[in-house]
Amino acid sequence: MSLNAKSPQDSQAETTVLMMPSDANPMGNVFGGVILKHVDLIAGIVAKRHVGHPNVVTAAMDRMTFLKPVFIGNALVLSARINYVRRSSMEVEVTVESEDYDSGTKARTGTAFVTLVALDKHGKATEVPPLLLETAEDKKRFSEGEKRMQQRLREAGKL
Ligand SMILES: CC(C)(COP(=O)(O)OP(=O)(O)OC[C@H]1O[C@@H](n2cnc3c(N)ncnc32)[C@H](O)[C@@H]1OP(=O)(O)O)[C@@H](O)C(=O)NCCC(=O)NCCS
Repeated sequence: MSLNAKSPQDSQAETTVLMMPSDANPMGNVFGGVILKHVDLIAGIVAKRHVGHPNVVTAAMDRMTFLKPVFIGNALVLSARINYVRRSSMEVEVTVESEDYDSGTKARTGTAFVTLVALDKHGKATEVPPLLLETAEDKKRFSEGEKRMQQRLREAGKL
């Protein structure tokens, strides 16, 4: 059975999370792992929206460089959208910014590419809806996502 195509706009997500003392070291710097947890969560939401069910796992997360520190009391602003799909796997791009309420400024913290795989009720990888590529930007992201996926699979010894 072929699945109906969905546009990246149908599944995109944004969230803002205030950083608390338990998210940081004694100097007030937020842990990288806390940021990655929120990256993983929002990427999962996008993937679940795209596939239309909740059985999705993270197969890979590309390297992420933290460009600027995030401190207790800042907010993390995460935006996520799907770039590319194969048969059962999807690439979701997550951009992370930090918002400083003292200065009223936002700074880019980094970008992560997350690969998620849809599973069926037996835990086997299952087909996902194709992507409806309506804009030049959608097409560009798809083609760049395809190249990154090839590289990722080569590095994982899967190609
Ligand atoms: C992801 C997982 C389901 C893939 O299992 P698998 O036995 O390799 O399954 P398959 O060979 O059928 O591959 C399924 C899809 O995963 C993709 N995939 C597998 N490993 C990958 C990797 N390292 N990077 C990117 N994609 C990967 C395959 O390319 C395939 O995609 P496609 O159907 O779109 O072509 C399996 O490795 C797993 O369950 N990992 C743990 C996931 C998890 O629990 N994550 C939370 C953190 S532990």
